[in-house]
Order: sequence, then structure tokens, then C-alpha cells
Amino acid sequence: MYILGIETSCDETAAAVVKDGREILSNVVVSQIDIFKEYGGVIPEIAARSHLEAMLPVVNKALLDAFPNEDLSDDRARLTAAWDKIDSIAVTHTPGLLGSLLIGTLTARTLAILHKKPLYAVHHLKSHIYANWLKSENLPEFPLLALVVSGGHTQIIRMEKHNQFEIIGTTRDDAVGECFDKVAKILGLPYPGGPSISKAAKNGDPNKYKFPHPRLTSPNRTDHRYSDLDFSFSGLKTAVLREVQQAVGKPISFPSHELKNLLTEQQINDFAASFENIATDILIENLKKALEKYPDTKSICLAGGVSANELLKEKTKNHFQNVFIPELNLSGDNAAMVAAAAYYEIESGVVPTDPYTLNIYPRKTIS
Ligand code: KG4
Ligand code: ZN
Repeated sequence: MYILGIETSCDETAAAVVKDGREILSNVVVSQIDIFKEYGGVIPEIAARSHLEAMLPVVNKALLDAFPNEDLSDDRARLTAAWDKIDSIAVTHTPGLLGSLLIGTLTARTLAILHKKPLYAVHHLKSHIYANWLKSENLPEFPLLALVVSGGHTQIIRMEKHNQFEIIGTTRDDAVGECFDKVAKILGLPYPGGPSISKAAKNGDPNKYKFPHPRLTSPNRTDHRYSDLDFSFSGLKTAVLREVQQAVGKPISFPSHELKNLLTEQQINDFAASFENIATDILIENLKKALEKYPDTKSICLAGGVSANELLKEKTKNHFQNVFIPELNLSGDNAAMVAAAAYYEIESGVVPTDPYTLNIYPRKTIS
């Protein structure tokens, strides 16, 4: 079964063709990082406009890369032949930046109607988890625990079978990726913050600055909305800010965007290393607690942009067995993972989405 995946949840315009949920025939990603480096973060309106420009060329490239059909005379004929091969279209439906999601979903809806293909609206976090099924020699086994770490989410999800998700821990405030991005900004490191922090951390001392681990308690112990596996990252971000202010001898009223000019390169490296060390420790600590709570777990999967972090990968492999980590080009946002997730939805009996009504009834949960 050939699925065309489309992904536009944030600042990557992506399309891919995946065979049977595992084999990547094409995987095209056009990133807007160069645009947003200048601003130090994503500007939703600009992101949506960039998606609009890139969307159709990206879809066409994904189709042509997957089915080159060199015997045909031109790209128009090749595209027609490629569309004949496609069984279904899958698109990231939520969560993400609204304007960005609209470009992807409207494109997918239109293409589904035009080419008479079933449409699958896929949850973004589900797709990140299914990146672990792509190209992997061995496949994750159920029940599994997935640590989903991205720019917008930090969750531990338990799966007992395909297409079944239970969120057993989640962040109560910031996501870990967002925390990497914000700390990078304080330190004057370029966007996106995750890779910049890692790069600077290589020359830093991870034990130079001590930051507190969050201690979360439920305001009401019987309130099922809170779990002892929850995360919190907003305190860590503030702790870094305070420590930087102290290191350069400035009061808390000093503008945070000016702090970077007062830091030495070694201080920046040490802050990056100390922050990365504690942020990854916090993730591992909760994953360990989750494993204690669910001893029948057979695999651990990392998922989302932060799963590209070398230190997190190393610590996960050191502390757990049967660990699955997406390949580097599949850890960030891409459309191959969307197609993979849709394949397992179809295998699980999920019915296609009506392309005429998608977006009219927003879905808030993973389903
Ligand atoms: O999954 P993703 O590409 O987009 C969302 O769904 O949010 O994740 C983006 C996040 C950003 O916060 C980025 O800084 C972080 O992933 N990230 C990293 C690394 N590479 C990307 N964080 C830590 N270390 C990295 N190497
Ligand atoms: Zn993502």
C-alpha cells in the first residue's frame, strides 16, 4: 500500500511516499529554518505563507522521487502515473500552528477530492512515535513506552497495541524542546535552540552550574488530571535565567536579551552543558519511574525533535533495554512518519476522514 504523507504543522513543508508503513520511497522536507534564524523563532504568519509557496512543488517532488517513471516523456505524465499508484493520502491534522496546519490540510483535502483517494487525518504526536517503524530492522514490541519530546510536547505515552495511546505523563507547563529554544535565546545561541545548545555543550562542563529538578505534587491527589509522571520545564528555564544574571552580576530587572553580550564563550558553553545535562536527566528520571509502574514494558521509543539529542540518546541507551530511536532525518518534522502512522491506522480499521468536513470539528485528543 502506497501512502502519500503531508506535514506542515510548524516550519517544515514536507511530503513523502511510504510503502506499507515501513519503506520510504521518497521523503522531501523544505525547512524554513533559514528564514526564522533571523528572528530567533517561528513567526506563524510567515510560516503559513512559506508553506503555501512550497506545498505543491514539495508534493510533486515526493511523487516524482517515489515513482521516477523515466520512460515517460514529461513530468505531467509522470505525475499522472504516480497518482495512479497512490492508495491513500495522510495529513497532519493537529496539533501545530493553525495557519500552517490549514495549508497542509486544505492541500490534502483538495488532492483527495481531485484524485479520489481516501484521506487520513493524523495526529502529529502519533506520527512522531511511528517514525520508529520506518526503515528499522527490528520493530518495537508492545506494550511500549514512548517518550515524546518535541517543541510543543513532553509526554510519556503507553501503547499496548497499534493505534492505541495512553498519555501517562505530560508537561504541566513548557515542553522540553521549547525550554532548549528559550535557554538558547538567553545564551545568544542561534535558532533552533536544541542543536545549538548541544554544539556549545560539547566544550562545556555539565557540572559547572547546578539546577534544581522539579518536584511536582498534585494539588488534589485524587485528581486524575495530574500524574506523578508529569514534567515541568518552566522552572528550569527561570533557574537558568537567574543563574546567568548572577554569573554576570546583574539584577533580575536587567533585560534578558542583553545578558548574552556579557557572557564569555566558556560561560555559554558551561551553561549549555549544565542545562542539557539536567534537562536530559529529568526526562530519564520520569521514564525510569514509568518503567517501574509498568514492568511489562517491552520497548522504549524516543520520538520528536528532541530525540535527535545525542546526550538523551546515550542516557536512554545506558539506562534502558530495547530502545528505539528514529534516524536523525526522521526525528524532526517530516511526512514519512505521517504516512507510517496512517498505515497503522488503516491496519487497525480506522475509517478515512471526510475531506469535505475535515477541520470543521477540531479533535483535541490523540485518536
Ligand atoms: O518535533 P519537532 O521537529 O517539532 C515539533 O513538533 O515541535 O521538534 C522541534 C524541537 C525544537 O524545540 C528543537 O530545538 C528541538 O526539537 N531539537 C533538539 C535537537 N534538535 C531539535 N533539542 C535538543 N537537542 C537536539 N539535538
Ligand atoms: Zn513535531
